[in-house]
Amino acid sequence: MARGVIARYRDFLPVTEATPHITIGEGDTPLVAAPKLAQVIGCRELYFKLEGCNPTGSFKDRGMVLAVAKAVEEGRRSIICASTGNTSASAAAFGARCGLDTFVVVPRGNIALGKLAQALMYGARVLAIDGSFDEALNIVRAITEQHPVALVNSINPYRLEGQKTAAFEVVDELGDAPDYLCIPVGNAGNISAYWKGFCEYHQRGRAARRPRLLGFQAEGAAPIVRGHAVPNPQTVATAIRIGNPASWQLAVQARDESGGLIDMVSDAEILEAYRLMASVEGIFGEPASAAPFAGLRKLVRERRAGLDLSGARIVCVVTGSGLKDPTTAMDVAPGYSILPPTLDAVEAAMGW
Ligand code: F0G
Repeated sequence: MARGVIARYRDFLPVTEATPHITIGEGDTPLVAAPKLAQVIGCRELYFKLEGCNPTGSFKDRGMVLAVAKAVEEGRRSIICASTGNTSASAAAFGARCGLDTFVVVPRGNIALGKLAQALMYGARVLAIDGSFDEALNIVRAITEQHPVALVNSINPYRLEGQKTAAFEVVDELGDAPDYLCIPVGNAGNISAYWKGFCEYHQRGRAARRPRLLGFQAEGAAPIVRGHAVPNPQTVATAIRIGNPASWQLAVQARDESGGLIDMVSDAEILEAYRLMASVEGIFGEPASAAPFAGLRKLVRERRAGLDLSGARIVCVVTGSGLKDPTTAMDVAPGYSILPPTLDAVEAAMGW
């Protein structure tokens, strides 16, 4: 099979002869059945789409490869983005690969350690502001209006074009769209991209139907659910700590056209789901990536009307790897034993 999302799905992407063939191995991520957690939800089938298996550890690589390829095609020498972390890691990796100068503007103190380490190692110029992601995005937008640097946030349409390939993969693997697709919502690009992907595959006869989309924000950062921008968003899931999403309208459209919903989950619910996914199914996503499973549990608990989950085939998107955020993992994980280096001590600690 062709490597990378551009080669694999070029018939569905806005690429030309002049678009460079870039890949660092993005896409083609596993769709893993989770039978024990399916029982917890009471649904027929539950799958996790492991987007943390992308080369920089998040789904951002699917859209970034295309955004950077198009920037190179257009003769750009530098790229910039605002980011809660993952976009910056992905931009930095593809920027390095293509010899571009990469600038990333991030909210200081609210970016997971692994993501910051990645951006630095890939060689990006990291500009940390004492402000929010939303402020960073406003600054970056203003910069790209005045300077010849390519914007690679998801308001760049090539980002969503690349990200829609995840929906293609889900259909290619299952043979059709699932009944429900559950996804975290931050800047609201990814839910919009999945919807675009499902619609295009449906139109082109690759899928008989389209799923209902269930999006989940964090309670302290839930502008779409509350119906107004949140000036000072707060959540342990720093990836989705966003108060005024750029693709707000597209996400609402995706929600409504699909007959789905966008709801919110508390940090406690997110952290509980985060631990369950890892300890029951061996699926370690970052906190934001646990929001969909947390949301499903909430819908079941509340016996939400209009949703028939019992006979359903459900896919939850695990948007980023748990290794991105070792700090939160260590905060919520159980403790471990520190022992003298003797057989007796280790045996005793094992309960023998
Ligand atoms: N999950 C993870 C792990 C993310 O990094 C993001 C967004 C989302 C979910 C939400 O996706 O914004 O398309 O609704 N991260 C961006 C970033 C904002 O800068 O890395 P969205």
